[in-house]
Amino acid sequence: MEKILVLNFGGQYDQLIARRVRDLNVYAEILPYTVPLETVAEGGYRGIIFTGGPNSVYLEESPHYTPEILKLGIPVLGICYGAQLMSYMLGGTIEHAGTREYGLTQIRADHSSLLFKGIPETNNVWMSHTDYISGVPEGFAVTAVSENCPCAAMENEEQRLYAVQFHPEVTHSEYGRAMLSNFLFLVCGCRGDWVMDDFIEKTVQELRETIGDRGVVLGLSGGVDSSVAAALLSRAVGRQLTCVFVDQGLMRKDEGDMVEEAFKDAFEMNFVRINCQEKFLSYLKGVTDPEEKRIIIGTQFYKVFWDEIRARYSQGFFAQGTIYPDRIESGKGDAAKIKTHHNQVGLPEDVHFKGVIEPLKDLFKDEVRRVGEKLGLPHDLVWRQPFPGPGLGVRVIGEVTAERVRILQNADAVLRDEIRRSGYEDQLSQFFAVLPGVRTVGVMGDARTYSELVAIRAVTTDDFMTADWAKIPCDILGRISSRIINEVEGVNRVVYDITSKPPATVEWE
Ligand code: XMP
Repeated sequence: MEKILVLNFGGQYDQLIARRVRDLNVYAEILPYTVPLETVAEGGYRGIIFTGGPNSVYLEESPHYTPEILKLGIPVLGICYGAQLMSYMLGGTIEHAGTREYGLTQIRADHSSLLFKGIPETNNVWMSHTDYISGVPEGFAVTAVSENCPCAAMENEEQRLYAVQFHPEVTHSEYGRAMLSNFLFLVCGCRGDWVMDDFIEKTVQELRETIGDRGVVLGLSGGVDSSVAAALLSRAVGRQLTCVFVDQGLMRKDEGDMVEEAFKDAFEMNFVRINCQEKFLSYLKGVTDPEEKRIIIGTQFYKVFWDEIRARYSQGFFAQGTIYPDRIESGKGDAAKIKTHHNQVGLPEDVHFKGVIEPLKDLFKDEVRRVGEKLGLPHDLVWRQPFPGPGLGVRVIGEVTAERVRILQNADAVLRDEIRRSGYEDQLSQFFAVLPGVRTVGVMGDARTYSELVAIRAVTTDDFMTADWAKIPCDILGRISSRIINEVEGVNRVVYDITSKPPATVEWE
């Protein structure tokens, strides 16, 4: 399989670049700039992309790389900081501009360059830099300029080294996709062999070989990743697969049944559902602190799950729905940021499996969804919004009781129904109801009420690191409010959360 290396120099765009490359049907993997040269040389890469980064190349502490990488004979495309680094490595000069060039910028590109083939001479790109290349290295030609940037792109065609000051990977760059495509197909000579049908076929084959006639057990959460992993394993080994679904009673209304329905009869497997709402509610009795609730739910989930596995299945393989971003996020250099991702659960010491299987470990989320659709999973499951592990436990603020979970589930179901009917669903990244634990006075008929307040949260975001509150039209909000109050007993007021992240988080707890 053809591979492109995305060498990360600390920018925030590494995953985006890799996804763009994969969208063009070429497999890309990300490595940090600390990776040894031998790994790069022996990795079988068709091309290398240096990412951007926030630093200045002349600072000693900035990420650098040995110039030998440019002599491997592998085509390189440097982006932003990566472009300056390429210039610096080869003896070009970089200068610090007085002002930062930021935003949409028109460039004039030389379309006799392979990189700009088929692209209009003037086009808009996304710039974000303060330093710029003031003198290109020997053997290089400037192939694009902008008003403020004497070298918006440079290249040494013979050595197949290319550099762009702007960001072709962001959608604001009008012809960014075409430029990346030119790099992959015209410069690196890729053919584009990364296609999901092949992935399914190849992975099914590999799973069969690894698992043989043993059993494999998977923890199914009803989330996208574990669901797609389940469907893939079912295709590979059928009833040798056992899926354990722990329903702690803190999922959205009817969601447990939806998961069961999607898998139990539709896919060949053993489906084990453990209903334990009462148990979880008893552990949460009297607990109001959000972190304490998270810990209780997490610990109990782990216990129920592993008790089941320990009792029955610890012979064969253990599978989990780890995806590519989980692995990169868990392994990033900054110690403060290292975390074990929720998709990768720790294995108890007393359970011994033959091995751990992670069939989706190289896929991005959008690729996981495409695989899920091809495997015939229901649309609602494949396009499911993110849902926190502790479930409604962190959306029922204060003590979690059966009655309050019921109120929240019903309010949330109305919200979902109304958003769907209004055709607004595709415009939202995540939306849900919250029970803030505030009771307010109201009047219904002639009677005074003193009931729960429901808050609606809806956000738009690309990555959930930052998010904007969604500008849902007032008439839709009005319908949601009156339907919740009419249809959900115990609620007499609805408010809409108009806070972005930061300063707020998406969830309330
Ligand atoms: P926050 O609230 O941190 O949420 O802005 C960002 C995204 O993460 C989800 N989230 C969680 N997911 N366990 C999870 O698996 C959790 O404890 C958790 N807390 C927040 C949240 O739904 C949003 O998509």
